[in-house]
Amino acid sequence: MNEIKVKADYYGFKNQSTLFNTFRPDYPSKLIEYIIDYQDNRSKDQKILKPDGGVCFNSCALDLACGTGLFTRKLAPFFRQTFGTDLSEKQIRVAMENDEGSSKYAKFDACDFEGTFNHFSTLPKEVSMISVACAMHWLDFDRLAVKIIDHFRRGTPVVVAGYLPVQIMNQSILESDLFYDADLEIAGNVKEFYDKKFDYYNAVYNKVSLQTLRKYMNYDLDILMNSYQTLPFDKYFSHHEFKRFIILEEKTLLELVQFIRSTSFYQLFLNENRDLIPGGSVVDPLEEFADTVLKVEGFTDTSSDDVRADQMQSVKIDTMWTFFAHIVHN
Ligand SMILES: C[S@@+](CC[C@H](N)C(=O)[O-])C[C@H]1O[C@@H](n2cnc3c(N)ncnc32)[C@H](O)[C@@H]1O
Repeated sequence: MNEIKVKADYYGFKNQSTLFNTFRPDYPSKLIEYIIDYQDNRSKDQKILKPDGGVCFNSCALDLACGTGLFTRKLAPFFRQTFGTDLSEKQIRVAMENDEGSSKYAKFDACDFEGTFNHFSTLPKEVSMISVACAMHWLDFDRLAVKIIDHFRRGTPVVVAGYLPVQIMNQSILESDLFYDADLEIAGNVKEFYDKKFDYYNAVYNKVSLQTLRKYMNYDLDILMNSYQTLPFDKYFSHHEFKRFIILEEKTLLELVQFIRSTSFYQLFLNENRDLIPGGSVVDPLEEFADTVLKVEGFTDTSSDDVRADQMQSVKIDTMWTFFAHIVHN
């Protein structure tokens, strides 16, 4: 399916970047620690004091396909300068609006290093780390790997991070060996006892996200579902390590729905079917999912959108977010 990786902007729909920036999960601090510890142990970079008093590497990080800068901002405290580039003008605009001024952003294709070097004069010589977070399934891995090796110093670590589609907690997760070998964090108010109704929500949710909307996923879902482990890292890089980080976290129904609204596949679905919903021949699967949950939770008042939003805000669902990071270099 690699041939569908066309260079169109699938993150530029109305309000999508704002939804993206607000409702995408926060990368776990432990994942960032893992990367920074790695860098600390191998880099010969001096450390310097930042203007805010923090200590950082005296070098730069380049975050490719940075979106609204969610990963870039996490790296920023640890580097003298962070750069983020993305294909989507709107994503870049929201990244700039939400940065406190320490990172620099520009609109570039992830493989367009030459353009990036002209734009940011400190590239490539001062870059000591390159990252691609939750975006490798959009990119041509082989092309990018060759480019990185050609243009950056030998040994520069490349961090390929991401997260799997969110899961609603359910019995099969509890019975699986998913937690084996992963760093597990329980965030917020995840219930002590597993709630059986989540089995049902999980089934409905999976039907919506992985079946009905599947055909709008304009990338190779298998690569992502395999945590990018099927990519040929070893063909290009001599060092390769991998770690998973699982976060169990209570989300509101509204947060979960807004998260899906931020995806390219939901926005593509809406774009194609806008005229057919509501009341037409196509049902919005996300609204259907929310309706199902609200009904089970006993909400019957459907008088207005505000009432519905309040109801969705009050429903709490335990979710599982699986993050991962590959660190490679040659
Ligand atoms: C799921 S988002 C991840 C954004 C960000 N890295 C994060 O972790 O939140 C995927 C991003 O890849 C960008 N993208 C897709 N193809 C690209 C390409 N060829 N070059 C640069 N960015 C690209 C999209 O515009 C989108 O912002």
